[in-house]
Amino acid sequence: MSETALLLRPAVRADIVRIVAMLADDVLGAAREDTSPEGLALYEAAFERIAATNGAVRLFVAERDGETVGCFLLSLTPGLSQKGMVRAIIEEVRIDAAHRGRGLGAAMIRLAIEEARRSGASLVQLTSNKQRRDAHRFYEQLGFERSHEGFKLKL
Ligand SMILES: CC(C)(COP(=O)(O)OP(=O)(O)OC[C@H]1O[C@@H](n2cnc3c(N)ncnc32)[C@H](O)[C@@H]1OP(=O)(O)O)[C@@H](O)C(=O)NCCC(=O)NCCS
Repeated sequence: MSETALLLRPAVRADIVRIVAMLADDVLGAAREDTSPEGLALYEAAFERIAATNGAVRLFVAERDGETVGCFLLSLTPGLSQKGMVRAIIEEVRIDAAHRGRGLGAAMIRLAIEEARRSGASLVQLTSNKQRRDAHRFYEQLGFERSHEGFKLKL
């Protein structure tokens, strides 16, 4: 698949339902998301919180032939360490289930990395649930290294 076939654009409010459907269409996501009409207000409020960061956090969709086939969230975190390095964090990565395994995910993450570089980041980091063995292989093929252990505490 040629990478020019995939287009990234910032998500708009009208994309919320489609994005939530992709987040939910996954072994782990199915138990975590709420695709009911009642759940929509939660995601709309979250979308407003993202918009209020003025670009520090951005939600993107990936389109091919006018169809939304993927999404991810890109956060830019400034810091003092490593001479004031800006780091980018990629989360909420999904390729629509009907389109997986055909190179679209790799193309989307390469575009995400380029976007991070353009935004001044000199490191891209992400975490992936330990159960997601396929996704771990996917990220390693893209050059990500398992250099750290991730720690999370649910609040
Ligand atoms: C992981 C994901 C984004 C990869 O996108 P993709 O378009 O399917 O991947 P590509 O075709 O570019 O790359 C193929 C690699 O992706 C991984 N992959 C393929 N199908 C996959 C699937 N159904 N689920 C998870 N990973 C998959 C494999 O490592 C594969 O490499 P392999 O052929 O050597 O096994 C996508 O499959 C997905 O959304 N999966 C479910 C949710 C998920 O795991 N998200 C990542 C959260 S950290």
